[in-house]
Amino acid sequence: MRDIENIVVLTGAGISAESGLATFRGPDGLWEGHRVEDVCTPEALAANPALVHRFYDARRAALAQVRPNAAHDALARLDRVWTGDLLIVTQNVDDLHERAGATRMLHMHGELLSALCAACGTRMPWAGDMHDRLTCPACAAPALRPDIVFFGEMPYQMERIDAAIATCDLFVSIGTSGAVYPAAGFVRTARHHGAATLELNLDPSASSIYFDRTRIGPAGTLVPAWVNEMLGGIA
Ligand code: APR
Repeated sequence: MRDIENIVVLTGAGISAESGLATFRGPDGLWEGHRVEDVCTPEALAANPALVHRFYDARRAALAQVRPNAAHDALARLDRVWTGDLLIVTQNVDDLHERAGATRMLHMHGELLSALCAACGTRMPWAGDMHDRLTCPACAAPALRPDIVFFGEMPYQMERIDAAIATCDLFVSIGTSGAVYPAAGFVRTARHHGAATLELNLDPSASSIYFDRTRIGPAGTLVPAWVNEMLGGIA
């Protein structure tokens, strides 16, 4: 890990698992008998808005019951102390990275605590439940929806992510199954540009073969240990 200056960290649902938030895939990954991929789509929102809102309302409400864990705290420390470039790209729609204090981060799949107007594109903080045909305060269209990137939609800030990956020396993936693109392809892009690559995950993922190194274990243990290695004796 010597000669590392610029770091990109990709996080997925696994980093929030020890806070008590369910991951998507695996034994508890089904929701009301649906695959997430079949529910979280623009088509599902149009055909069955109550179902889709129920899914996101429950997940938004769950945020009040959870706290950042040691992995979020360690990344926030890295963010505070690391003098090179750092970008934490999360696929998560929870706010646990921010609550831990991370600032050099973005939500590529949107945020539970945000609403998006499908008519005018305005985004706004949102805390409570949502329902169909909510009125947008900016344009008055009855078109507010969760500010979540559904399957089939373009993730946010891809240009910024691509630029950071192209210039990073180290790409680290934490708690993601490598099942969903474009995030699943970041490791190969990073390798292509010459970055070292490290995966920290509870199980080998679909992308494990593309990483230089994979460490298997819980994020709450592996991430603080890795951050300590990166920061050495720095407070
Ligand atoms: N520590 C580290 N990794 C963990 C832990 C843990 N405590 N618990 C689970 N994991 C790992 C699992 O082994 C799995 O590989 O986290 C990964 C979670 O995978 P998914 O549930 O598929 O979540 P994610 O990769 O974030 O999903 C990507 O899919 O449904 C969409 O948009 C949604 O952003 C999400 C995307």
